[in-house]
Amino acid sequence: MDRFKAFEVNLLCGAGGAEISGVDASRPLGAEVVAELRRALAEHCVIFLRGQDLTPEQQKTFARHFGPLAQTPFIKSLEGHPEMMRIIREPQEAKKLNFGGRWHSDMTFSPEPVLGTCLYARESPAVGGDTIWTNQMLAFEALSPALQKTLERLRVMHSAKRSYGPQGTYADDDLKSMRIKASEAALKEQAHPCIRTHPDTGRKILFVNWVYAIRFEGMTEEESAPLLDFLNRHSQRPEFQIRFRWRQGSLALWDNRSTQHIAVNDYPGYRRVMDRVTIAGDKPFFGG
Ligand code: SIN
Repeated sequence: MDRFKAFEVNLLCGAGGAEISGVDASRPLGAEVVAELRRALAEHCVIFLRGQDLTPEQQKTFARHFGPLAQTPFIKSLEGHPEMMRIIREPQEAKKLNFGGRWHSDMTFSPEPVLGTCLYARESPAVGGDTIWTNQMLAFEALSPALQKTLERLRVMHSAKRSYGPQGTYADDDLKSMRIKASEAALKEQAHPCIRTHPDTGRKILFVNWVYAIRFEGMTEEESAPLLDFLNRHSQRPEFQIRFRWRQGSLALWDNRSTQHIAVNDYPGYRRVMDRVTIAGDKPFFGG
């Protein structure tokens, strides 16, 4: 691994997660800093900056260093900021499921799933409320060569229907603070390669997730479930995980192409408020 010149990096876990010190995300960043942040992201899957003090506008400006911003469908955006959503969980909300509380990668139901997501903690619980990511490059590399070869020939259908469809998890507006809009539009399906190539590093990525990857192309959901379930359980092995303890002012930016993530639902009685923007991505591809 090349060292970084523009800032200090402390790796959080064997699987990745680069905690960066010496960068103030509220200020304009020079080209060298941005280039190294992008390299840290591609190599370590998630970058973290602690102790930030950001307005929504400053968070958006920081995220734009990685690409143009995308908008999130099915969820009402923050007033005056169409590219930002506020993830709120009130202490009295006794929920079956918190937002982001199942393993997923963001918006893989889109033709061009987002490159990354930038999440900023406005209020964090005294205990709990961590986010965990998996490194899907390591998950791919740990599969046997024969299974790797088989998966390289397959495509996977992704859909938002299990979350935002008329019968989806959020259709009954269970998460009132989030103002989610379930819709028939969520029933659409989008094919992506099961193994995608990272456009910056050329590494191969196991590109599946529990929520949106619903079946293999040409197979039913029932036929696909045993192998998809295996791949998702395999992805969650502890040695592929990166876990982060939020504090107020923590900022995370993850590479959505090479990770899955989950918001841990273990903080009843506490408030948690996070501002989220996503960075537009490109069409997943397999090969050189
Ligand atoms: C998300 O899945 O986008 C939210 C993650 C979190 O709140 O930790």
